[in-house]
Amino acid sequence: MSYIPASEMEILFSKEQIAERVREIGKQISADYAGQSIVLIGVLKGAAIFLADLARAIAVDATFDYVAVSSYGKGTRSSGAVKLIKDIDNPIEGKNVIIVEDILDTGLTLSFLHKLMLQHRPKSLRIATCLDKPARRIASIDADYVCFSIPNHFVIGYGMDFAEHYRNVDDIRLMPPDLPE
Ligand code: PRP
Repeated sequence: MSYIPASEMEILFSKEQIAERVREIGKQISADYAGQSIVLIGVLKGAAIFLADLARAIAVDATFDYVAVSSYGKGTRSSGAVKLIKDIDNPIEGKNVIIVEDILDTGLTLSFLHKLMLQHRPKSLRIATCLDKPARRIASIDADYVCFSIPNHFVIGYGMDFAEHYRNVDDIRLMPPDLPE
């Protein structure tokens, strides 16, 4: 791919806007689980940055775990073929669990993970996502905590990549649609 500096891409959400929403979501989660403990399960790799920020905005006792799913590419993913390649390390039975994602798009990944985590019989299971793209939904799944709902744009930054690049960009930017591979 020919690398285009992120600074040349239009900002969709600035780091300040993101920080504000993350603080609000963190407050909401802290209130919803007041006096309780939660397990945050991050979906690698995209969610790592959102999870790190969200966790620090949450005041209640929280532990982390991570899962990874295969990414055969969106073509295969659209057929519903999602495969777990890294499972949780610790049992979640009887615990309050929040799956943390960077983006909820077709919903195939989260629908797969939600069903899978339910099999572990957590006390409660919710979903937090930084971005939600409802227009692209294939699987019927919604998040409980959403920082921003966006139209069908390809975005990078704040954990989200294009060919593994741009995850470290600290705001969320619009990827130009006509990029040469
Ligand atoms: C992205 C994102 C979600 C998934 C959402 O992951 O992190 O896991 O796609 O898409 P869906 O709702 O259409 O299933 P990706 O496969 O790009 O891997 P990454 O997290 O390593 O970037």
